[in-house]
Amino acid sequence: MSSERPQGRAAPSPPPVGVEKTWGGPAFSRELLRLAGVGKRFGGFVVLNDVGFALRAGEIVGLVGPNGSGKTTTINVISGLLRADSGDIVFDGRQVNALPMHRRARLGINRTFQVPKVFRDMTVRENVEVAALAARVPRNTVDAVLDEIGLTGVTARPAGSLTANQQKLLDLGRALATGPKLLLIDEIGAGLNPAELGAIATLLQKLAARGIALIVVEHLLDFLGRITERVIVLGAGRMLFEGTLAAAAHDPEVVAAFFGG
Ligand SMILES: Nc1ncnc2c1ncn2[C@@H]1O[C@H](COP(=O)(O)OP(=O)(O)O)[C@@H](O)[C@H]1O
Ligand SMILES: [Mg+2]
Repeated sequence: MSSERPQGRAAPSPPPVGVEKTWGGPAFSRELLRLAGVGKRFGGFVVLNDVGFALRAGEIVGLVGPNGSGKTTTINVISGLLRADSGDIVFDGRQVNALPMHRRARLGINRTFQVPKVFRDMTVRENVEVAALAARVPRNTVDAVLDEIGLTGVTARPAGSLTANQQKLLDLGRALATGPKLLLIDEIGAGLNPAELGAIATLLQKLAARGIALIVVEHLLDFLGRITERVIVLGAGRMLFEGTLAAAAHDPEVVAAFFGG
């Protein structure tokens, strides 16, 4: 990525802790996650460049941007699937950038995948049980999770036999079974019908109301608009914008990134 374009406008600094929450749910004021100056490259290719933002408990923030802009990589460096090359990732007051994924999961960071990762030959229940076990979370949370994701009717079925929507819910359930404080949701809405989208939006809002912070990567802006006002826009690995969804739609840099302006 050679585009050393002049910095038209510095990325806004993360909002200070204590700013009023503007959307749904109770206002949790505790800062849970802060990224500062995060960079990631693959070989000589810069995929993330000086990414920085903050998130409070119970808050939902949307992460949007064109294909290849670094959204999944952002989730990967927060969850620990990848390690950032530079910058700080502070979770719950603690630097986590050097920690492997399972340690971060135990601290309360978990995620879903763009293509749901379920054990296809295991039953729905077993999938959730394995996740709870790995996270050393009490087994009685399994039933609560199955109920919450709405899969109590199919607990004995092999996960591979589920519909795409059910597999996405199960992937979410596996993340929930670890008792997360921060959930990273990667394009859960793609391919779902309006009723399925509505149900997932309601579920994500419910999780946030309970104090779980969510970063939601999504192309479906209507869906995002239902669950959050605040979005971060990435373009070629840089933060182009942070603010309300409505303002993003009128931001020249955002428009240029999406439509080649
Ligand atoms: N493991 C990898 N090795 C090399 N390049 C990668 C790897 N993962 C992602 N990339 C590249 O990094 C860029 C950002 O990818 P990604 O974070 O998946 O984007 P998004 O999720 O926004 O579509 C893309 O150009 C992609 O091809
Ligand atoms: Mg992606």
